[in-house]
This record gives sequence, structure tokens and C-alpha cells, in this order.
Amino acid sequence: MERKEALALLKKHVTSDRLLRHSFAVEAAMLAYARKFGEDEKRWGLLGLLHDIDFEKYPEDHPNHAPELLEGAGFDDEFIKTILSHGLNSDVPRDTKERQCLHAVDEMSSFIIAVALMRPTKLEGLKAKSVKKKMKDKAFAKAVNREELTSSVEALGVDFADHVDTIVDGLIKHEATLQEDGYSLLD
Ligand SMILES: [Fe+2]
Ligand SMILES: [Fe+2]
Repeated sequence: MERKEALALLKKHVTSDRLLRHSFAVEAAMLAYARKFGEDEKRWGLLGLLHDIDFEKYPEDHPNHAPELLEGAGFDDEFIKTILSHGLNSDVPRDTKERQCLHAVDEMSSFIIAVALMRPTKLEGLKAKSVKKKMKDKAFAKAVNREELTSSVEALGVDFADHVDTIVDGLIKHEATLQEDGYSLLD
């Protein structure tokens, strides 16, 4: 499936601007990691873009309804399983790179955007130090579980500062693609 079709499918099930932006942020981070690890960029990008496709309709039972929403779209079993693996109490173990990666970038990409929006230079020059500072600020983005942010990067086996650099770089690169479609992560 091409990105354009995937986006149309996502928009059939997601109307909230906030969730769309989150999906784009995770897509950007997955693309960055696919480049870093030499993995299939298209596949990893789509995993990021579509990972929360059922969240708006089934917030209580997410991501267990993703398989039915993605049915017939031509994705392989492994793709669907990776999406299932990012759930909080998933039966699917996070035992592959793409699963560990999706988990590690899920909350972190949106957290980084939130940090960037507080800075005059936004994503430019944003480093781990600023992210860590905001992680210690309990009032900031308080729904985000700090422990999860840290443990998911450890599970991926990537240094925290490196993780932030990779995601920031991915978000900057993806912004141009998004703007062509009239979206932005930074406005
Ligand atoms: Fe999710
Ligand atoms: Fe998510």
C-alpha cells in the first residue's frame, strides 16, 4: 500500500487532529529508524502512520481492533502483529526490532514535539538535555509515563541521547512531506 492510500484509510477512522499529528510524528520517527537500521522505510513508515488507527473508535480496547480496520489492505501478518505489540498489555511480545522501535518512538515522538513547541527554534538544535529536563517536570505532558519513555529505549538498545537525535532528525525531515499535504507538526 502506498502512503497516500494509507493516509486515506487512516482518515476514514481518525478525525481528531491531535491523533493525526501523533500518527505523523510516529511515522517520522519510524522512517528515521528504518534509515538508521537499514530497514524497509516504506514498511516502517506505514507501521508508524497506522499504529493507532483504531484508537478513536475503540479507545478502551486499542489496538485490538486494528486488525479488522486493516483487513483487506494487503498487510502481512507480521505487520499486524507489530501493531498489536504496541498495546499496553499485549499478548504479542516485543521481540523484533520493528516492535521494539515502534514502542520506543510511540510516546517519545509526541513528547519531543511538545518540547519543541515550547522553544523559539522548535526542533532545530533540540537535544536530549532539554528532553530530560522536561521529563523531570511533572506538570509537563503529565499523561506521558516517564518510566515507559526510558525503559522502551533501553529495550531497543539505543543510547538515550542518540534516540532523541534520531527522532528529532526524522521529525525535521518529515515536516517537508507533511507540508505538501497541508499538515505540520509544528504549528
Ligand atoms: Fe497506541
Ligand atoms: Fe501511539
